[in-house]
Amino acid sequence: HKDLLDVSQLSRAEVMAIFETAGRFQELQQRPVKKVPTLKGRSVILFFAEPSTRTKTSFDVAGKRLSADTFSLAKSSSSLTKGETLKDTALTLQAMAPDAIVLRHWCSGAARFLARRVECSVINAGDGRHAHPTQALLDSFTLHQEWGELAGKTILILGDIAHSRVARSNVLLLNMLGARVRLCAPRTLLPPQVRSWPATVYSDLSEAVRGVDAVMCLRLQLERQQDGLLPDLREYARTYGLGPRHVELARPEVKILHPGPMNRGVEISSGLADCADSLILDQVASGVVVRMALLFLYMTRKGE
Ligand code: CP
Repeated sequence: HKDLLDVSQLSRAEVMAIFETAGRFQELQQRPVKKVPTLKGRSVILFFAEPSTRTKTSFDVAGKRLSADTFSLAKSSSSLTKGETLKDTALTLQAMAPDAIVLRHWCSGAARFLARRVECSVINAGDGRHAHPTQALLDSFTLHQEWGELAGKTILILGDIAHSRVARSNVLLLNMLGARVRLCAPRTLLPPQVRSWPATVYSDLSEAVRGVDAVMCLRLQLERQQDGLLPDLREYARTYGLGPRHVELARPEVKILHPGPMNRGVEISSGLADCADSLILDQVASGVVVRMALLFLYMTRKGE
């Protein structure tokens, strides 16, 4: 493929190839000098029209570790603020002949829109509520590193599923890798079409967490709750915040994940975020090597 827009484009074999490549790059991260010349002379534009810490920095680190030239463009410093359309922005970036554009945008479908208008690879770094494929890949890679195999494992995705592109991409990828997926949220934070997703939906957290192998907590997306459905935070934390009493109902050594950024004390207790079975910082480390793998595979596109 020219672009990575969502995980639905990938076959299981392609996902395994990404994991295998990321695993090789992981070995390089143990060395004192981490930089390799693999993508020397190639350029990637990091166009982030929404805020990001993890995704933007890890793509930047990934590109630089592979010796690619990385150029950052944020919404606040771009001509989007002067009313320039995404189409004109796309054509302008295309004229600079990059090898890849990594795009984060608040509109679902923005990455596809850009991909149709530029010749280089477009990697979706999160578009509206639609998809966050690189996050799902790094989440599964993290669990793959931990367990070796995801088939037969049960993973609970907990929290603001309605606004979550992370949940959408993860449900698809975890299913593809043979895991069983549970979702738990109050009804107001479930998307209308959730019953057609390949997942079991719960409203009671104690029931949902029973016997699971991992819990992925999602951030309550306070900035997207413009529909008047914002729950009372204390009530939400009491009913849907993951705490030690829930973990006791899960399997021993249940793994705790969160894509970040976290609202500590809201969707997850601070103690659990920092506990020995938390993989939250492993997810960040996986983000660098999975994105190195993606930049390498999409920017070289062997055979084309
Ligand atoms: N998980 C994630 O996408 O984090 P950022 O918004 O900080 O990139």
